[in-house]
Amino acid sequence: MIRSDALNGARLSFIGCGVMAEAIIAGLLSKNLVKPEQVVGSHPRSERREELQEKYGIRVFENNREAVGHHTRAASVGTTVAEHATSASDKEAGSSIVMLTVKPQRLSAILAELREVVQPHQLVISIVAGARVETIADALQNRSIARAMPNTPAQIGEGMTVWTATPEVDEAQQAQIHAVFGALGSEMHVEEERMIDMATALSATGPTYTFLMMEALIDAGVHMGFSRHVAEELVLQTMLGSVLFARESRKHPAELRNMVTSPGGTSAEAIYQMEKGGLRTVLSKAVWAAYQKATALGKKV
Ligand SMILES: NC(=O)c1ccc[n+]([C@@H]2O[C@H](COP(=O)([O-])OP(=O)(O)OC[C@H]3O[C@@H](n4cnc5c(N)ncnc54)[C@H](OP(=O)(O)O)[C@@H]3O)[C@@H](O)[C@H]2O)c1
Repeated sequence: MIRSDALNGARLSFIGCGVMAEAIIAGLLSKNLVKPEQVVGSHPRSERREELQEKYGIRVFENNREAVGHHTRAASVGTTVAEHATSASDKEAGSSIVMLTVKPQRLSAILAELREVVQPHQLVISIVAGARVETIADALQNRSIARAMPNTPAQIGEGMTVWTATPEVDEAQQAQIHAVFGALGSEMHVEEERMIDMATALSATGPTYTFLMMEALIDAGVHMGFSRHVAEELVLQTMLGSVLFARESRKHPAELRNMVTSPGGTSAEAIYQMEKGGLRTVLSKAVWAAYQKATALGKKV
């Protein structure tokens, strides 16, 4: 449940303002969950900094430490954690959030860079694929960590984000996380971190399965003789309508499928071919392989 006031007064620092950071920033601003002055970011390239500043009215720094320090009152760059703990109130630190939105290969250097400026109880939210909570907590000497896995439809506010958080993340901070990812579409809290790897295989890799099936169906339409744009329209609207129908009717997919499968009809013929070709098994194996890959990559990051 998303509270519209969860981010009132909160300040967010996005470290690495690429595609996903921009999607979150755009979602938060368009839903009026934050004002531009509550958001800062960091980016190494000046054109990108200028682009984001112009588009969203937010401040974007070149220096990652400055982006975090800007929001933590006493956090002048170069101040140590111990100094922060005594100089800034915990409440101030508690309402400012660090968002880790960089690629996995950059993460360890950035964590080392931020260690001195992130405060001990400051909420740190990572969307970095594969990066374990323990790795981030150890590197930053901070136990208030959330790890999330969004997917690409988040870029149009139709994403599915699955997240988990350490026990140190309190209720108010959990409400902030609900709001941050609610800005990207649907969001779901899970208790166990292994479920983030599972979600990586199912919902984060999910658009890949969907797009491949979409492409195959469009090609089949073209094979029969439809022009490509007609085949595209027929397939996209059929997929969209089927998803909405399944969601609204709340019926099991097999029941919905049986509703259109008349004896000796076209659906029965098509289902026979899909089962013969092992489509169900192929999809199951694909998801399982993606899960194993996510787990293996997590050990590397
Ligand atoms: N895209 C998705 O759908 C998706 C889904 C789930 C999880 N994720 C995860 O989200 C994270 C971000 O993904 P993304 O797609 O937004 O990637 P992205 O567009 O490459 O964003 C990362 C940004 O960080 C910048 N950067 C590079 N070095 C930096 C540094 N030292 N300090 C600060 N910023 C730096 C990059 O700049 P340059 O442009 O100059 O390289 C880039 O703009 C990744 O870890 C990814 O695994 C993404």
